[in-house]
Amino acid sequence: MQRPSISPSLARLRSSLWLALGLATLLAAALPSACSSDADPRPEPEPPVVVVTPPEPGAPWESLSEWNLYADLRAQEPAERVLPFEVIAPLFSDYTKKRRFVHLPEGATIAYASEGPLGFPVGTILVKTFSYPADLREPEGEERILETRILHLEPNGWAAHTYVWNDEQTEAVRLVAGKFIDASFVDASGQAVQNLYRVPNTNECKDCHQNQDSFVSLGGRSRQLDRAYDYGEGPVNQLEHLAALGWLEGLPPASERTKLVDPFGSDELSLRVRSYFDANCSACHTTGGNASQSSLLLDFAATDPESQPSSNWGVCKIPTSAGGATCGHTYDVVPGDPDRSIMICRMASTDLEVRMPPLGIRLVHAEGLALVRQWIASMPPEGSCQ
Ligand code: HEC
Ligand code: HEC
Repeated sequence: MQRPSISPSLARLRSSLWLALGLATLLAAALPSACSSDADPRPEPEPPVVVVTPPEPGAPWESLSEWNLYADLRAQEPAERVLPFEVIAPLFSDYTKKRRFVHLPEGATIAYASEGPLGFPVGTILVKTFSYPADLREPEGEERILETRILHLEPNGWAAHTYVWNDEQTEAVRLVAGKFIDASFVDASGQAVQNLYRVPNTNECKDCHQNQDSFVSLGGRSRQLDRAYDYGEGPVNQLEHLAALGWLEGLPPASERTKLVDPFGSDELSLRVRSYFDANCSACHTTGGNASQSSLLLDFAATDPESQPSSNWGVCKIPTSAGGATCGHTYDVVPGDPDRSIMICRMASTDLEVRMPPLGIRLVHAEGLALVRQWIASMPPEGSCQ
């Protein structure tokens, strides 16, 4: 019959006492009876508690494991004070699956903001891991993890890093220069797809994550986070969960909050397209964004048909950007005529000089393209830009 083993430190203590004091009999009598009792099995061992270890400002860790963000790195099981989250409308990234996490230092809180990014406290860590499921029809099945991106709020602003996973899937190392990864997966229709997936260089993060002079969180906004998530006890609203934990301050009631909808859900078409644009285009196509000189403004507020001019979303708008690709068409959006709309041709292109978004993808997002097409086709032609 096997006895439960005692811990190495206890064993060491016992043997040194034995040798030093020669009190063998006394010690044996004094040892807790649990050590020898078979009738009283020990409780299941608790998983070890892993506590996040942020790097010093300006000196990021070289490997992902050094951050201690995970209790189990491979399984992406978060550590203490690391919460998973989902966005309502994800950025399309060549059909990769994404896992997102947020860590706050003890005692720190997020300040609610209705429009822009939430007010994250210094020390916040935002994490996004990209992987390819072997088969998109089984998203929970076998997968290959590609990269883990981190935004760490240092006293001087957000620091952006990415860590590329090894083939053994045991560790990821920090990469500044970017990289291509030859990857393959089976798509939703059962077709095998080969993709030269591109890890961006860390200068490119700001092409999307910078507005005017500030580096910003893009998914960390009320309109993206205002959705349900199952933390293990059934779905609850993420913002309300953060508030209940004491992580988020100033959350107004749901009726006063604006939120996106699932672009591929069952809401009204215009809301779904606006949500798609907000997630996939507005990082650049917004006031202060990288493409603001084009005057094509695609954030959720700028595309409100009740209050905004339709030129914001390209209706009968002649491109302003010099040298911009036009595919031989005249207007960004021709109501009722997707085939004569620059927007469609640029979303459908894989040519580096033409495609939109210009970064972060190598594959055409067929479902997103179909959605925008359907929306343009549904617009009444009314003299179409004459
Ligand atoms: C093509 C634009 C684009 C580029 C380039 C880009 N991001 Fe993002 N990123 C987004 C968008 C949009 C979101 C929010 C939507 C989502 O997560 O699907 C996001 C979300 C994130 C998140 C989750 C937290 C948050 O703010 O939403 C992290 C972390 C992140 N990005 C890090 C990086 C890093 C690091 C780089 C550079 C290596 C980078 N990103 C490059 C557009 C981009
Ligand atoms: C990483 C930044 C970035 C993202 C994301 C992005 N764009 Fe652009 N876009 C630009 C820049 C910069 C220009 C101006 C230069 C050019 O025309 O290539 C531009 C120009 C355009 C134009 C021509 C606009 C004009 O009137 O001059 C269209 C149409 C367009 N984008 C559509 C989109 C759509 C639709 C999306 C989302 C599916 C998107 N873009 C996402 C950066 C971006």
